[in-house]
Amino acid sequence: MKIKVAISTAILGLLVLSSSLSIATSSPDNIFLDKNARFHPVISQLGMVVSQEAIASQVGADILEAGGNAIDAAVATGFALAVTLPRAGNLGGGGFMLVYLADKNKTIAIDYREMAPMGANKDMFLDPQGKVDNQKARFSAQSSGVPGTVGGLLYALDEYGSLSIEEVIKPAIKLASQGFMINHDLSDSLHLSSKRLHSHKASKRYFYKENGDNYLPGDVFIQSDLSQTLSRIAEQGRSGFYAGKTADLIVSQMKRSNGLITLKDLANYRVVERQPVCGSYRQHRLCAMPPPSSGGIHLIQMLNILENFDLKKMGHNSSAYIHHLVEAMRSSYADRSLYLGDPDFTPVPVNQLIDKAYAKTLSEQINSQHARISKDVYPGLDKWISSEVTESEETTHFSVWDKQGNIVTNTYTLNFAYGNGIAVEGAGFLLNNEMDDFSAKPGSANGYGLIGGAANAIQPKKRPLSSMTPTILFNSHNKPVLATGSPGGSTIITIALQMILNSTDFNMGIAEATAMPRIHHQWLPDAVYYENGISPDTLKNLKSLGHHVSSKPRVLGSTQSISRKGNNLAGSADPRRQGASAIPQKTK
Ligand code: DON
Repeated sequence: MKIKVAISTAILGLLVLSSSLSIATSSPDNIFLDKNARFHPVISQLGMVVSQEAIASQVGADILEAGGNAIDAAVATGFALAVTLPRAGNLGGGGFMLVYLADKNKTIAIDYREMAPMGANKDMFLDPQGKVDNQKARFSAQSSGVPGTVGGLLYALDEYGSLSIEEVIKPAIKLASQGFMINHDLSDSLHLSSKRLHSHKASKRYFYKENGDNYLPGDVFIQSDLSQTLSRIAEQGRSGFYAGKTADLIVSQMKRSNGLITLKDLANYRVVERQPVCGSYRQHRLCAMPPPSSGGIHLIQMLNILENFDLKKMGHNSSAYIHHLVEAMRSSYADRSLYLGDPDFTPVPVNQLIDKAYAKTLSEQINSQHARISKDVYPGLDKWISSEVTESEETTHFSVWDKQGNIVTNTYTLNFAYGNGIAVEGAGFLLNNEMDDFSAKPGSANGYGLIGGAANAIQPKKRPLSSMTPTILFNSHNKPVLATGSPGGSTIITIALQMILNSTDFNMGIAEATAMPRIHHQWLPDAVYYENGISPDTLKNLKSLGHHVSSKPRVLGSTQSISRKGNNLAGSADPRRQGASAIPQKTK
């Protein structure tokens, strides 16, 4: 009897061992445990939505659960963020969406960037002395480009979604009409922008209590006019925004505030589907946003330069590593200032800029022992204005991955937090100040210190150059492994770069890759920006290499990313902002 028990226990033990072995060996994809990671992602074997605001992520995850695909969920999240994250989520702005279609193994880029109104002209932001009037370029009604968001989201739904407009907008309408609970993030952000928003009647009425007080965490925030605008879009599609009542309200606001956008500008707004710009980095391939974003080109260009160095050997965030990153950034942003603009107006030498041989010549200009001086990297531009961003910067990124393998990675924005601060009376949404992304005058800096020239000069119907960089990374078998992107103005491209380097050369999981301290350089101003967590020793070494290191740390971006490992999706909402959330799709 005893022997029998012992034998059966041994058999049981063997069975347990062999079954655990078979899990470990035959199905490693189902195990997602990185014992060395200090930060862990949210895991799903179905779909996932990651955005900067939890309610909006949930809206997208619910759409996936209801049978929608990644595009349906992204469009629903985009409309929901227009309600729950009004500083960056928007109807009155524009953006870029990268869509990966699993069944076709194809990536497409949807450009819904704002367009300059017909009444715009090259010198519109110059004062009588010929100096740039930054107040006008950033905070007047003339700083608004013709909004593209509604056109872009509806285009994506129409072409690649599976649900109706009503189905995907319904959650946003409910959030606006019935309200949602204000969190700390929204309460703080409205508080910080109160001076600017209070100076416009409609903005004050929409975003503050009747007596002008701030909303506090826990208050319910109802946006009735916005819910009416969303309902018109749900009922009439594109015409619910670009024609009829909403268009009339926008144009009336323009007349009151001395803006330029007309009914004709709205009717003429066009979404453009473009070929993404694609390249490779070591054994990986990547696709990102082409012009009028500078993001994809310069991301690939920096990777091409860095491919010539053994970054792994230098060590993550070591001074040697940061030095090489900075030098690659310096070269790329110098090129950005000269060559980049709206490709429908100015020829952009895309292929030359992402050419590996060109990158090799740039890599040879990097001295491992000494920093270059930016003014020498771009001779001819002897004068530049260093600009500090005083307004809080806000854009927002979200990523969606569905169980069929379709992906959306989307960045959209009003430019600054709450755009130009001007809400459309009666329509409940804010207008962008994206016209400041044009080069108002050659050599003068925009709100992010970026310098441009003729290629990015203002012209009617032209799209201002952007840095927004929704990106998808593919492995050596050409399977997508990472979807990422970030807000951060000029810093967006270098943040995407570091997400890719962390994930490839340093083999970090997505949560770890997100949490790592970041650095930034953009040629001019000639300064290395860094986050808390880069050690004082490293900063000292960088200074001794000749770098101008900024006097204090700052926070760089807010990535909302999803990676795939085997059958698992791993999502990471950036902890740099409150309220961001990765929500896995629930099983039915
Ligand atoms: O398109 C651009 O590059 C800028 N308008 C983005 C602004 C931005 O990221 C602000 N957010 N942090």
